[in-house]
Amino acid sequence: MADGTHLRLGVNIDHVATVRNARGSAYPDPIRAALLAEEAGADGITAHLREDRRHISDADIDGLMAALRVPLNLEMAATDEMQAIALRHRPHAVCLVPEKREERTTEGGLDVAQDENRLAHFIAPLRDAGCRVSIFIAADLAQVEAAARIGAAVVELHTGAYCDLHAEGRFDERDAELERLRAMAAHADGLGLEVHAGHGLTYDTVGPVAAFPQVRELNIGHFLIGEAIFLGLGPAIERMRRCMDEART
Ligand code: PXP
Repeated sequence: MADGTHLRLGVNIDHVATVRNARGSAYPDPIRAALLAEEAGADGITAHLREDRRHISDADIDGLMAALRVPLNLEMAATDEMQAIALRHRPHAVCLVPEKREERTTEGGLDVAQDENRLAHFIAPLRDAGCRVSIFIAADLAQVEAAARIGAAVVELHTGAYCDLHAEGRFDERDAELERLRAMAAHADGLGLEVHAGHGLTYDTVGPVAAFPQVRELNIGHFLIGEAIFLGLGPAIERMRRCMDEART
């Protein structure tokens, strides 16, 4: 299965659009950020088209599809509206996430185990259209196994709880969560799923996750866009790349 080679970095540019939308202006432009990220070594770009369009817009997805050389990973809720948009664009990857209007960010993983039949039917046309379907889930055995049963190609493990526990200094609990992530990465890989991870990762927290040999891709946004204020986007991404490479060797 996984051979522990190149770990891809997907850069999530949602929060460039958050800043743009805060003033209703045309800038900063998330497509410009995506192209800069590409130049800085991003292996892919991730964008979440939310139901309420609070950051990324439909026009941004049009622009990304037209401009990018690296693959686009379109994050979206499992709704009919989003399925139609994905089928129109046929991005390289579609990552299904739970979505609640009142949340500030994607709070938990998708409950695939509860919604298995519907999701199996939901992803079939996306797969037929050539999209790699990824399911964003917590590090939980029932969710990993349900994702495999519905025919997903990829699971993205939610690293938010691990990162929050680190930030709160609750290191024993953090280490227990890291252990769950490690075990689920190995289990998912054993079931033939490609393993990705993301949410809340920073220079401080990325290493232990990047070191899991089964993990093939990390998707990182909020921290990098924040660091870009201080370092510039290119240098912020390059530093993240170095953290990942160091952990991998
Ligand atoms: N992966 C998924 C599925 C997400 O929903 C998000 C947040 O949009 C990320 C990764 C990136 O998280 P962060 O912006 O905290 O790095």
